Parts: sequence; C-alpha cells; structure tokens
Amino acid sequence: MIVRHPDVRSTVSTADCYHVAALFCALQLMVSGQLCAATKFALPAPAGTLRRAMIKYLGSKRLLVPHIVAAVAALPEVRTVVDLFSGTSRVGHALKARGYRVLSNDHCAYAAVLARCYVQADRDDVVAAAARELEHLAAVAPAPGWFTRTFAEEGRYLQPRNAARIEAIRRAIAARAHPPELEAVLLTSLLEAADRVDSTTGVQMAFLKRWSARSANDLELRLPAVLPRAAAGKGEAYERDALEAAHLLAGDVAYVDPPYNQHSYLGNYHVWETLVRFDAPEVYGVAKKRVDCRVRRSAFNSRRQAPQAFAALLGAVRARHLVVSFSDEGHFAPQQVAAMLAGRGRVWALGCDYPRYVGARIGIYNPRGVKVGAVSHVRNREFLFVASDDRRAGTRLRAAGFRPAAEALATGS
Ligand SMILES: C[S@@+](CC[C@H](N)C(=O)[O-])C[C@H]1O[C@@H](n2cnc3c(N)ncnc32)[C@H](O)[C@@H]1O
Repeated sequence: MIVRHPDVRSTVSTADCYHVAALFCALQLMVSGQLCAATKFALPAPAGTLRRAMIKYLGSKRLLVPHIVAAVAALPEVRTVVDLFSGTSRVGHALKARGYRVLSNDHCAYAAVLARCYVQADRDDVVAAAARELEHLAAVAPAPGWFTRTFAEEGRYLQPRNAARIEAIRRAIAARAHPPELEAVLLTSLLEAADRVDSTTGVQMAFLKRWSARSANDLELRLPAVLPRAAAGKGEAYERDALEAAHLLAGDVAYVDPPYNQHSYLGNYHVWETLVRFDAPEVYGVAKKRVDCRVRRSAFNSRRQAPQAFAALLGAVRARHLVVSFSDEGHFAPQQVAAMLAGRGRVWALGCDYPRYVGARIGIYNPRGVKVGAVSHVRNREFLFVASDDRRAGTRLRAAGFRPAAEALATGS
C-alpha cells in the first residue's frame, strides 16, 4: 500500500511511512546532547573525550559505544581494531580516543570521508590548516547550481539559501585540491553543517512538506573533533565492500555492524553521497536519488543473501577476536549469529534495549494524513556478541556484563 505521511513530500510505502514518522519523533533525542559546543573553530575536545558532532544516522551506535569499548578493553593484547561497517565512525572515534589503532571501512563515500576525518586524520597534522580553511570557506559567496536546483528547488531537503552556500563551499573545497585528510575534515564539517539545517526526518528517502524549523537556521561550519594520533598507531579509512575489506585488513579485533534489514544506507543518505562525490549524477523520483542507488546494492540488505554474506564475512575476517552487533529484528535470528560465531571460539553476548529504528512512535497514516494504526512495539533488542578463543577474556567480559551467549539469548540480557 502506498501512503503519504502528512508532513512528507515523497511517495513512500507503509513501512517507510512509519519509519519516517518515528524518525521525526526521535530526531531531537538523537541530536540533543551530541552536538559539539557552538564555539566556531575552537580546538576539538582532547583525547578521551567522546563528544563530537554527529549526523543523524540509522543504526548509529550511540548507546552501545560504551559496551563496545568495554568489550574491546576486556580482550587481551589488542592494539588494532578493524571496523568493517563504520557508518558515522562513532565507534572508531571512541576506540581511537582510547589509544587503539583503528582501520575503518564502509562502502559509502560519505562514510569513508567521516572515517578519514575521525579515524585516519591526526589532530596535529590537520587542525590548524582546517581552522584556517574553514574561516575562508565560511566567507564564500552563495552560488546556486545543479545541487541547489536538485535538492532545494525540485527536492526540498534544504532551504535554497543554505543549499546555495553548501554548493559554493563544496566547489571551493574541490578547487583547492587539498591533501585527502584535510579535505576530509572540511567535507565532514560541511556534511555536519548541512545535516543541522536539513528538512527531513533523518533519512533522505523523503523530505518534509513544510520546512523543518532548523532548516531556517544559518549554515554554520564547525571544526570536527579530530583526535591526536592513537598510541597504538595511525588509523586508516577504506571505501570497499565489507567482504573485500575483511580479506584485506588485519587486526586484533574485528567489529562487525552490518545493516540488518532491507533499507539501503546509500538510498537513505543519497544527498550526502552526492555532496561528497559532487558528481551531479542522474537522479530519479520525487526523492531525487542517484541512479546508482539502483545498482550499488549490499548483500546485507537482502533477506535471501544476508545469511550467506554474513557467514562468508566471518570466515574471511583476519582477527583473533570478533565483536558483532546484531538486532532481534534482523533478516535472521541472533541465535544464528551466535551459531556462526561458535567456530571462532567461545561466544559471549550482552543484550541492550534500544529505541526501534522505525517510526513506531507516531504510528501509521493513510494517504490523507490521518492516523490509522499504531506499531506493535517501540523498542527492540540489540545484542553485542564477542567471540574469542582466549580464555583470559572471560573474567573481564563477565565484569563488563557479558554472559555466555546461550545464557544471554535465553534471558534476553
Ligand atoms: C549499521 S550501519 C553502521 C553504523 C556504525 N557502526 C555507526 O555507529 O555509525 C551499517 C553500515 O554498513 C554500510 N554497508 C552496508 N553494506 C555494506 C557492504 N556490503 N560493505 C561495506 N559497507 C556496507 C552502510 O553504508 C552503513 O554505514
């Protein structure tokens, strides 16, 4: 059934519709408390401080980060962590802040930029130059073109005056041909600034019919919280398919946080992908998605392919210990994840109650915008699994709240 949420100008399915609605509700919760202080171009927080700006992102591990960090800390002799599905790089940033060398990977270009900024770039190398460049970019005159027409006039993700500034700043970044890490810091600043003035519910499969209040704010570039180099060594950012990255990258721990349902991250964040690539692609539909959203697919979004893709990935991972996030709403059950991990050693798990990804909070609307139903539940359980054949890990994992997986899955804790 095709329905239209009252505040959303794009044709979306029932499922998508209630995703949109819940995200609208969740938005303020997601954003509040996560933005860096508004000090323009102030030096970022010192190492160990986790506060950093954050784009609104489905599946971001805000609540799980302390548990992920505790799991890694419980594992013996760890220096390097490979993050195969890095997304916002929130996990990699937290691990880098604690001195681990992090190798991040994600197949989306915008995620690779975030990783190059938050995991690969080191504060001493880039921050002074980035602060200078941001002063310059903040003064660039608006210049509307393809990006503004597509995403602020034909689509309405951004107000035209902000889109015209974003477009001009993006063009100015490209024109300066900076070294990749400095460029990534500037692009991250621009992405995060654009995200603060967007007019969506947090995903880009639709935009709001009426402008969001925040879209009227002025675009403001801030200096990202780039960390000093980690004690264990320099981080690296990759933009590859996870299976390829699993073959390529070796570490002591691999963190695996794949998508667990059919919603494509490329489709949900296509405006950020286009802003980073700045390639003026052919677009389609009311949402103005890039045409390559139709072909750049992830096996992890497919119910049929996901179990095999997951098993192949676990078989390929080059790390002694594995840390895996998985939800009880995935394409397959957490019990199956535990069974697949059994070949990698003893399996531990921790269950966390999590706000549900979809629009469970507002409900389901008919095409006239009338609420016609509620969603059965608003929270789901995310399991964090650890697999290791090192017996020394057990005591510390227990102290961090982990239980043998069979026990944790039976009790849900
Ligand atoms: C659940 S999110 C990860 C969230 C991340 N841990 C965070 O805290 O922001 C899953 C990520 O996997 C990426 N992804 C999906 N399929 C992929 C694939 N086949 N190879 C590499 N990355 C993929 C998506 O772009 C998305 O960023």
